[in-house]
Amino acid sequence: MTQHNQKTSGWLSRRTTLVSALGALALSILANGYFYSLEGARGLYVWHPIIALKIVLFMGLVPISIAIVALPLEKLAQKLAMRVVRWLSFVSSIIVSIISIALVAFLIVVPRTGSLEPARLKLVDPAKGIHALGTQPAEASFSAGTTNKGAAQPGITLPQSQSAALQPATDAQARSPLDQPLLRLSFSSDPHWGADTSNATARTQILEGIAAGKPDAFFMLGDTVETGNSATQWNLALSDLEALIPAVPLRPMLGNHDALFGGQYIYRKAFYPKGFSSDSGSPYYWSIDAGSATIVAVDLPWGTEMFGARQRAWLEKTLAAADPRKPLIVISHSFFYASGYDDPTFDTPWYDHYQNIPALVPLFEKYGVDLVISGHNHYQELLAHNGVTYAIIGSMGGIPDPEPSYRSPWSRWINVGGYGWLDVEVLPGRLALTFRSETGEARQRATIEY
Ligand SMILES: [Fe+2]
Repeated sequence: MTQHNQKTSGWLSRRTTLVSALGALALSILANGYFYSLEGARGLYVWHPIIALKIVLFMGLVPISIAIVALPLEKLAQKLAMRVVRWLSFVSSIIVSIISIALVAFLIVVPRTGSLEPARLKLVDPAKGIHALGTQPAEASFSAGTTNKGAAQPGITLPQSQSAALQPATDAQARSPLDQPLLRLSFSSDPHWGADTSNATARTQILEGIAAGKPDAFFMLGDTVETGNSATQWNLALSDLEALIPAVPLRPMLGNHDALFGGQYIYRKAFYPKGFSSDSGSPYYWSIDAGSATIVAVDLPWGTEMFGARQRAWLEKTLAAADPRKPLIVISHSFFYASGYDDPTFDTPWYDHYQNIPALVPLFEKYGVDLVISGHNHYQELLAHNGVTYAIIGSMGGIPDPEPSYRSPWSRWINVGGYGWLDVEVLPGRLALTFRSETGEARQRATIEY
């Protein structure tokens, strides 16, 4: 028997073993690289690290590791162990290659092949801005509450005492002609169409209430659907939005659930059609000229996984260039300061965001941001820190989060276990915030001077 034949005994040579293992490693790097390049995918590894994700991340190392183990076994007189280990490496190479190719195919094909039903919506193109409609204030449609005032925090006028803050506002509000809003905006987040646990009745009530209020624009801050690559779930959302708010200028953002497994492609088809553009060049972060306010959207699906050097430079430039005479409002899916809880499965902290706060809050404070509005946590909460006010406005139907085990030291008011939305009126010199329940009742009010 020649030496060559000895090396290829069992017709699996050292070369075949190593080449197949390196091929599997390359395919797995490509698959993970593609997955990592998608919106929000890296956040999934940090905030929701299920075992399958870790297997996909490290599986490429298995065949090559086994192939290396086979090398010293070549020196043994008995070749059986070497043959077995080479075969193990080869079979694992085939499995890893198949999984890698299937993953890329799944990520590319599924979100691109789902058929989306066309919906007649009044989508806001970030490049075109928002124009005040000059309609009656939202309070005309609802039983509104007493405006609470008091200097609780520099730059923010909040209820005079914490006890007052916790009382629902129910009295009709008197307005002088000077109180007529320059701009009226509504915000909500986390409707989670497609989730069995979401409350469709509350979601419908909220949309009906917003339609009745006729705001100049409605911002839906993400997690429109439960699983982003499911066209079926997006169709449910589009059909309800078309039925309930066809005339309301609508600007949805991308949440972590929307982004799941290539969902960004369906999001763009549904909410950022051809012809739309933005100052940043991205469909996921942009600034909007709203006439009497500047609105800046940042792309933070789970946290800072998409907040790279490009978005950071754009944000700093945009905040620095904002007109200081107008209120500066930042919106995002994931939150900054927040009360919350530790995820019971992954032990991840869903409160005072350890990524978003150090990365963005110094910019908010440096450039005089007045109000930051986010979703992600399914509470309504009002917080204030260093002259910046933070509002969290989940949930628009997504299952309410549990009673927070952690209360942020910057929290001023919180409502747990309910649904609702937030109205923001831009008035001369101040912003008037009204947190509403799903039936439109004013739960809490706050005023921010700008
Ligand atoms: Fe979320």
